[in-house]
Amino acid sequence: MTNPGFITVEGVEGAGKTTCLGLIEQQIHARKLELLVTREPGGTPLGEDLRGLLLGHQHTGMADETELLLMFAARAEHLKARIEPALAKGIWVLCDRFTDATYAYQGYGREIPLERISVLEDWVQGHRRPDLTLLLDLPVETGLERAGKRSSPDRFERQALAFFERVRQGYLSLAATHAQRYRVIDASRPLGDVAGEVRQAINDYLDRHTG
Ligand code: TMP
Repeated sequence: MTNPGFITVEGVEGAGKTTCLGLIEQQIHARKLELLVTREPGGTPLGEDLRGLLLGHQHTGMADETELLLMFAARAEHLKARIEPALAKGIWVLCDRFTDATYAYQGYGREIPLERISVLEDWVQGHRRPDLTLLLDLPVETGLERAGKRSSPDRFERQALAFFERVRQGYLSLAATHAQRYRVIDASRPLGDVAGEVRQAINDYLDRHTG
C-alpha cells in the first residue's frame, strides 16, 4: 500500500472551493482510492457544533484568542476522531480548509502573532501537516461578490475588506514559504480554466504518489 495523501483546499470566500473539492473527489475515486472528504471547522459532531458557534451570530464579539482556540479545539477532535484514523487505514483525506486557514484568518487577518499559532499547531498536530495544498487565489472583491450572491453573510463574511486583503496576502505568503506543498491557482479565470488546472495539479500529484 502506498501512503495515502492528506490534501487541503484553501482560499478566501467565494474562491470556488466547493467546485474544486468535487473535481478532486472524482479524480481520486477514478483511481480507485478510498477517500474521506471533510471540512474545517467541523468534520465531527463536536466540531460541527463549534463551527456553528464560530460562524453564527450569537457571539459576534468573541475575543480573537477564543476564536483561535475554538478552531484548534475543533481541529484536535477532527484529527483524533477522523483524520488520523483514516490515514492510518490507508484512506486518503481531502479537507476543505485546515491550519493554513488559521494562519491566514487568525494570524494575518486578526493579527494574532504567528508564533502563537505555530505553538498550537505543533501541540495539537504533532508532525501532521497536509501533503498538498491547493490555494484558489482571486481578488477579494470578486470572491466576496460571488459569496454574497450565494447566501447571507456568516460572522467572517461580515469582516471589512481590509481584513480579507490581509487574509489573501497571508495565504500568498504561506504559499511562498511552503512552495513544495502548495499549488497556487488563479481562480479569477473562467471556471473551465480553473477546473483544468485543478485536474492537472491533482493528476501530477497522484502520478507521483500512487503506484
Ligand atoms: P467556509 O469553510 O464555508 O469557507 O467557512 C469557514 C470560515 O471559517 C471561513 O470564513 C474561514 C474561517 N476559518 C478560520 O477563520 N480559521 C480556520 O482555522 C478555519 C478552518 C476556518
